[in-house]
Amino acid sequence: MKKTRAGEGPLFFKRHWLAIVLILVATLSVGGFLYWQQTITEAKVESNQRATLELIAKADEQIKAILKQKAEQKAQQEAEAKEAAEQAREANNETAAAIDSGKCNLASTHNNPASIDVMVNKKHCIQPLTYAPSDLITSNGATLSAKAIDAYNKLFNAAAAAGQSFYVTSSYRSYSDQVSTYNYWVGVSGRDGADTYSARPGYSEHQTGLVFDVAANGCVLDCFGATTQYTWLQQHAAEYGFIQRYIAGYEATTGYKAEEWHYRYVGKSVALDMQARGIKTLEQYWAMPGGDYY
Ligand code: DAL
Ligand code: ZN
Repeated sequence: MKKTRAGEGPLFFKRHWLAIVLILVATLSVGGFLYWQQTITEAKVESNQRATLELIAKADEQIKAILKQKAEQKAQQEAEAKEAAEQAREANNETAAAIDSGKCNLASTHNNPASIDVMVNKKHCIQPLTYAPSDLITSNGATLSAKAIDAYNKLFNAAAAAGQSFYVTSSYRSYSDQVSTYNYWVGVSGRDGADTYSARPGYSEHQTGLVFDVAANGCVLDCFGATTQYTWLQQHAAEYGFIQRYIAGYEATTGYKAEEWHYRYVGKSVALDMQARGIKTLEQYWAMPGGDYY
């Protein structure tokens, strides 16, 4: 057994003090470095957590803002739809009142909806109000009364032969079609606005089956007036018994804004006579009242 001699312990420290100090310094440095690293890592984790929480809070705020905006839009749309429905109801009540008071159509002539000389405007409703022609025929994209279909086919083919093809966007519309059409436009423009270009149910010429609306080259409604097809119709529609029913400058007479696309069948003799005499509206030709509703 090895015995420690007196003075051997202190001698060991004397001999190895530098190594011992270096080991101690190294141990303390590594420990300090590890502690420092851990502190940094913890700080980073904490900062990342804070940033994540902030992002979540921001996203939450954005979602809340979007939901609020959506709710407001929905409420506005509902309010507008309600307003449009209310306006349509009011118009309906006024129509009903005009009918009750006998003022929906006071005419004793031009009042047969099955005849091509019928007058339909804001002062002359169709009688009965829900009248539907019994002789509807569909041809070349239009549904019209048998009284108008041959003339329409001839006009359609003549336009095509002249390189001025058009297509029909609307022709016969039933009373209930007109309810939807008119209510739609009330939703778009309000009642007063819609009344300048859309007939109330029972007051539309479309319900007689004597009318069609045209378009060409994608030009629907307002831009149709600038097409060569419109120019051609201006020159030739009367030869086939059709007239443009609503002319610019005659809004107070017809009750409607100009419609370059809306053609009414009146028969060849009336259409040509109107053209020859420069008479622009049926109200003037038959000396009957037009303009606004009673
Ligand atoms: N756009 C015409 C006036 C109608 O609705 O019959
Ligand atoms: Zn029309």
